[in-house]
Formats: sequence, structure tokens, C-alpha cells
Amino acid sequence: MKTKLFFVPLLVALGFIAVAKATPIEEGKSIFMSRCAACHNVNKVMTGPALSGVDQRRSLDWIINFVHSSQAMVKKGDTAAMAIFQKFNRVPMPDHPDLTAANIKNIVDYIKAESKPVAEEKAPFAKPGMKKNFYQPLTMNNYGFFIGYFLVVVGLISALYLAVQLKTFERNRKEKDISG
Ligand code: HEC
Repeated sequence: MKTKLFFVPLLVALGFIAVAKATPIEEGKSIFMSRCAACHNVNKVMTGPALSGVDQRRSLDWIINFVHSSQAMVKKGDTAAMAIFQKFNRVPMPDHPDLTAANIKNIVDYIKAESKPVAEEKAPFAKPGMKKNFYQPLTMNNYGFFIGYFLVVVGLISALYLAVQLKTFERNRKEKDISG
């Protein structure tokens, strides 16, 4: 009886973990929709920059500080903050001092989940260094080649065998015609 009761809090705890695990992106999304989406889209430039890949451009601490007060960072002389402020025609992003670090991390997780890899694919010409060779060196790992080769050989042998059978059959019939 006691051992069975032990499972109840365990299940409840597991349930909580499952729920807690499912929510951060959802929470990030709802904050993003209500507080950021007026100026930001993950994959499109609006009043503010497209935020896809922001987690790669900036550290999480930088993003948290910027969201709390972008102008404080500009005034402090943070180069990245000053550059993006200039780039967006000196439109200051409003402060969001009430958002916690966890809130902002969830927003970033939501942005990550929504990000589409665009920039590289859209380049009109492939960088020469990124072009793939058209030939493939023949190695034992080249299963596709060996299977194809094998199929061609099997196909040729079957065709030959069929042709021989057909000829034999025809010859037999002719012989029968002559004799009969
Ligand atoms: C009133 C419009 C507006 C709102 C609302 C807004 N932003 Fe911004 N945001 C901007 C502008 C404009 C910039 C460009 C930098 C600047 O002007 O200071 C920017 C820049 C940023 C940057 C820097 C991007 C980069 O590439 O370095 C991040 C991160 C960011 N915003 C996150 C947020 C988040 C998260 C929210 C919601 C909590 C939010 N913003 C709400 C206008 C806005």
C-alpha cells in the first residue's frame, strides 16, 4: 500500500515537469505576440529588425539588457546597440523593464523555433568554395554505384539468357516445322 502511494507524488512531479517543459516556447510566443509583434517579425524586417538568428548575433545577456533598456545600452556606448539603432533610423525601441530574464529567454526560444534559414539560400550565386564537385570519387562506400553496376550486369545477363532461350525456342519450332 505504502509503495503504491509513493508513485502518486512521483507521477504528479512528472506531470509538472512535462507541463513545464512544454510551456517556455508557448510563453515566449504569447509575450512576443503581445509585446513585440507590433514592431518585430521573426523572419521579416518591420519597424524593428527581423529577429531570426538574433541568438547567434548576440549573447543572451546582451538581448536581456537590450530588451530591458536599449537606450541605456546606446548611451553606454555598446557598439552593437549603437549600430542597430543607427541602422533603424534612430527609432528607439521602448524599454521593457518588467520582463524577467526567464521571460526574455523564452522569447528567444520562441524566436529560435520560428526562425527559417533564409539568408544563405537566397544568395543568387553559390560561393565558389561552397560548390560541390560533380564527380564522386569511387570508393567502397559508394553503395549506390555498386548496386547500380550490379543491376546493370544482372540485366545484361538476363537479356542474354532470354535471347538464347528465344533462339533455341525458334530453332526448335523451325526444326519441328521442317520435320513435321
Ligand atoms: C515600438 C517598436 C518596438 C517594439 C514594441 C519592440 N521593439 Fe525591438 N527593436 C525595435 C527597433 C526600432 C529596433 C532597432 C534598434 C533600435 O532602434 O534601437 C529593435 C531592436 C531589437 C533587438 C536587436 C536586434 C538585433 O539584431 O540586434 C532585439 C533583440 C529586440 N528588438 C527585441 C525585442 C523584443 C524581445 C521585444 C518585445 C519584448 C521588442 N523588441 C519590442 C522596435 C521595437
